[in-house]
Amino acid sequence: MLSSLIITLASAALVSAHTIITYPGWRGNNLIMNESFPYGMQWMYPCGGMRTTTNRTYWPTTGGAIAFQPGWFQGHATAFIYVNLGFGTDGPDHGPMNMSNPMVSPFQILGPTKNPYPGTMCLPQVPLPVNATVKAGDNATIQLVELAVHGAALYSCVDITFVEPDSPLLEEVNEENCFNSTDIGVADLYTLTVRPSGQTLNATSNAQHRFAGSFAGYLGWMPLVLGGLWVLL
Ligand SMILES: *[C@@H]1O[C@H](CO)[C@@H](O)[C@H](O)[C@H]1NC(C)=O
Ligand SMILES: *[C@@H]1O[C@H](CO)[C@@H](O)[C@H](O)[C@H]1NC(C)=O
Ligand SMILES: *[C@@H]1O[C@H](CO)[C@@H](O)[C@H](O)[C@H]1NC(C)=O
Ligand SMILES: *[C@@H]1O[C@H](CO)[C@@H](O)[C@H](O)[C@H]1NC(C)=O
Ligand SMILES: *[C@@H]1O[C@H](CO)[C@@H](O)[C@H](O)[C@H]1NC(C)=O
Ligand SMILES: *[C@@H]1O[C@H](CO)[C@@H](O)[C@H](O)[C@H]1NC(C)=O
Ligand SMILES: *[C@@H]1O[C@H](CO)[C@@H](O)[C@H](O)[C@H]1NC(C)=O
Repeated sequence: MLSSLIITLASAALVSAHTIITYPGWRGNNLIMNESFPYGMQWMYPCGGMRTTTNRTYWPTTGGAIAFQPGWFQGHATAFIYVNLGFGTDGPDHGPMNMSNPMVSPFQILGPTKNPYPGTMCLPQVPLPVNATVKAGDNATIQLVELAVHGAALYSCVDITFVEPDSPLLEEVNEENCFNSTDIGVADLYTLTVRPSGQTLNATSNAQHRFAGSFAGYLGWMPLVLGGLWVLL
């Protein structure tokens, strides 16, 4: 298990790879740059260019662990991470209709370097999206999004089938397949409201004053030019 992971990482480094979902699995290797994906496959919404798979992995109906390696991406020491769920198989490629159901609040990762790094992050108990109800046997897809500092995002998915939390089908979660390595820091994200929707725009009226002022200055300047022209004529 561990050696196969290391091999994945070695080949990943060759193509300046991005994110890898290490638990509970992923759709497959999309760390590919070729003629079809000249910018790299993993930038493609919703699942990094990978179609829905049928070799689904199992995940608890009560939510469970997700582990990933966010650092296989050159040039970005920090990134925002989103984890979403898409329900069912009614979508365009027999996957979900959409991936619009957040499972965690987005957070920032603080990597050690701008170069690729192998660190792993483990979210041991990711809940289902708010108000979601699922039963054993339902199919869904977990989407991991890594938003780079320039605003483009990398996508990885894993197709799951829900099982009861005590199901023997579940792969055991342990310190080898789900751990936080010390090279990745974490930051919470906050927003600060500068102007709520619908508020009177005082800033604009200030700008209008400034604009009126410079317009007056322009008028004051005109006659000088005209005077100059008159002198020239
Ligand atoms: C499904 O099969 C693909 C191709 O063999 C493999 O890369 C991927 O890891 C498998 N996914 C799971 C969840 O086992
Ligand atoms: C690029 O790689 C993808 C994924 O392996 C593959 O489906 C596609 O056919 C490849 N394109 C070319 C031009 O080789
Ligand atoms: C879930 O996915 C599996 C594998 O693709 C499929 O065999 C099964 O019919 C699906 N179940 C439902 C309820 O759609
Ligand atoms: C997303 O997909 C679900 C089905 O999984 C559907 O009920 C919902 O309306 C969709 N939402 C959007 C915004 O398309
Ligand atoms: C890893 O770090 C995240 C973010 O701080 C935290 O939520 C999670 O519980 C940690 N995982 C483990 C296994 O301690
Ligand atoms: C969850 O359900 C409650 C009650 O129906 C509703 O008020 C709330 O808006 C829902 N939340 C989301 C995120 O859909
Ligand atoms: C906007 O201007 C009005 C009237 O001058 C004032 O009462 C209000 O406090 C101002 N709002 C802000 C956010 O500055």
